[in-house]
Amino acid sequence: PRLEPFVDELPIIPRPDSTSYRIDAVSARHSFHRDLPAGPTLAYGDSTYGGPTLVAHKGQETSVEYRNAIDTHPFAADFDTTLHGLSERDRTDVPTSMHLHGGVTPPEFDGNPEQISRPGQGYTYRFPNRQDATTMWYHDHAMAVTRLNAYAGLAGMYLLRDEYDTGDRRNPLGLPSGEFELELVLQEKIVNSDGSQSIRSTPIVPQGRWEGGAVGDVGVVNGKIWPEARVARGLYRVRLLNAASFSVWDLHFSNGMPFWVIGMEGGLLDAPVHTTRVRLSPGERVDLLVDFGVLEPGDTVELRNSEPAAPQAAQIGAVLMPLFMRFRAEYARGFTGPVPDRLRGGPGLPPVVGPIPTPQNVRNVSLSQPSEVRIPPSIMSLNNLMYHSTDIEMPRQGTVEQWNIVNATPDPHPIHLHLVHFRVLGRQAINTLAMCARQPQPPIGLKWTPDADPFVVEPLRGPEPWETGYKDTVICNPNSVTRVIAYFPTADELGFDPDTTFSREVHTFDPHRAGHHAVGHGDHGPDGHGTEHGSHGDLQGYVWHCHILDHEDHDMMLKYRTVT
Ligand code: C2O
Ligand code: CU
Repeated sequence: PRLEPFVDELPIIPRPDSTSYRIDAVSARHSFHRDLPAGPTLAYGDSTYGGPTLVAHKGQETSVEYRNAIDTHPFAADFDTTLHGLSERDRTDVPTSMHLHGGVTPPEFDGNPEQISRPGQGYTYRFPNRQDATTMWYHDHAMAVTRLNAYAGLAGMYLLRDEYDTGDRRNPLGLPSGEFELELVLQEKIVNSDGSQSIRSTPIVPQGRWEGGAVGDVGVVNGKIWPEARVARGLYRVRLLNAASFSVWDLHFSNGMPFWVIGMEGGLLDAPVHTTRVRLSPGERVDLLVDFGVLEPGDTVELRNSEPAAPQAAQIGAVLMPLFMRFRAEYARGFTGPVPDRLRGGPGLPPVVGPIPTPQNVRNVSLSQPSEVRIPPSIMSLNNLMYHSTDIEMPRQGTVEQWNIVNATPDPHPIHLHLVHFRVLGRQAINTLAMCARQPQPPIGLKWTPDADPFVVEPLRGPEPWETGYKDTVICNPNSVTRVIAYFPTADELGFDPDTTFSREVHTFDPHRAGHHAVGHGDHGPDGHGTEHGSHGDLQGYVWHCHILDHEDHDMMLKYRTVT
C-alpha cells in the first residue's frame, strides 16, 4: 500500500517502574498506520505491539513473571519445520523464551533459546541489576522462531537506572528526564493493505522455508510507520534501539544537525561525544542528547537512514529504506539545561570507561556461509558450526580475551555476546580470497577459525565515536576482521555462578483463571518436566550469535561457557 508519512503521532511507550512485573506474551491486533486496519500481532502485556518499557534500579532485583498466553501466531504458516526439530504442533503451540538483552544475568534467567515456555506455561525471570545504568531491551529468543516471534511484536525496552543516572529531576548528571527522555524502537516492516504484517521479503523462498532475511520497506518507530513527534524546543535524551530483523542503518537528521552520544549498550560514556551520524545494527543501542532548541517553532526535521541495502539483500531486490520519522518543534521551551561536559567521569565521579585492557588470550572466530550453498536459502554459521555443536568457546573466568571476529561473507553481521560487555578495538579489511586459499573452509560442521592477520589490507581503524564505551553487539563489516576485547567475570564478581546448569522447568497456568496459577512442571515433552526439542544435557552457559534474527535462527548462533 502507498502510505502517507507523518500522519500518526509517535506513540509514547508506557514506562512502569517496579521491582516485580507480570508480563504475558499475547496475540493482539495493531494498526501500524492511520490508513491501515489493525492486523494480527504478538505483544507483551497490555500492548498491541511490542511491550512496555520496564524500568529497573541498580542493586534491586527485578522479577518478571512471564507467561505465554499466545493463542494464534501471525506467522504460523512461516514456521520452517525443517529447523531444529520444529514440528507442525509448534505453529499453534508456539514456543517462546524471554531474553533480557544486555543483562548480566545467571544462565537460568537468560532466556536461553532451548528454555522455552509454550502457551499455558510460564517462567519467573530474576534479573540481578548489579550493572551500571544503561539501555537494554527484552525480546523473544526461542529456538528457530526468534525471527518470527520478535518481528511479530515480542520486543520491548528495559531501562536500568542508578545513583548517577536517576532518570528523574534529581539527576546528578543534569540529563533531561520525564517527557524529555524518549525511547525510539526502530524497526523495518513489510505491511499488507489489510493491515497484516509480512515477513517475506523475497519471492525466491517458498513460504514455510527459512527466508534468510526480512528486509522491510517502511520504517516503524514505537509501532507506527513514519510517525511524527511534537517536541519542545530544548534538549532531549533519546534512546535509540535498532530492533530490526535484518538491516543496518546509518542514521542522521535531515538538516545535518549534530547531536551527542552519551552512552551505548554497556552504559554511559565518561563524557558526551559530538557526531552527526550513528551507524546502528540490529541489537545495538545508543543513548543520545539531541538539541531541538535549534529549531524555530513549526520547523520539522526528519530522522533518516543512508545505509544502502546489504549486498546479498540487494541481489534479491532490497533497496535503501530512507525514512523513520519526523520531529516538529512546538512553541514551548523544553529542557534548557546545557549538554554536560562530563558524565561518569565528572567531578567526584570516577571514570568508568577507562583504557582498553591488554588481553591474556586471543581467539579467532569466524562468520561464514558454508561453501556448499551461497544462494538463499543458505545457512549462516559461526566457526562453520551449527548451533548444537559442542565445540564451543570456553573463556576462563577472571581473564581478558580479544576476539578477532573474521567475517568472510559479503554482508555485515551484528555479533552479540550474552553476559559480557566488550570494547571495540577496531576493524581491518582483509583479502578473504587469499585467506580462504591458504586456510580453506571445510564442510559445515567442522570448526573453521581462520587467522586473518596475514591477510589484512589496511591499518586498524579504531571504533566509531558511538562505539567508544562498553558494548554487547558490534557490526562486523564484510570481508573484515573486527577486534573486540572482553573481560569474563568470575562467579564472585557476578554474585552468581555463570557456569551452572539451568533448569528447564516451567510453571503452568490456567488461562481461564486469571491471576491464579499453579507452579509446577510443564506437561509437555517425553519426560513430563517440560523438556523440549533439542538434546539433553550440555545446557550450561550462554550463547553468542548474529543479531540478524533470520541468521540467529539458522544457524548463526553457538553456545559458550566461561570456565574456572
Ligand atoms: Cu538480543 Cu541473544 O539477543
Ligand atoms: Cu548474520
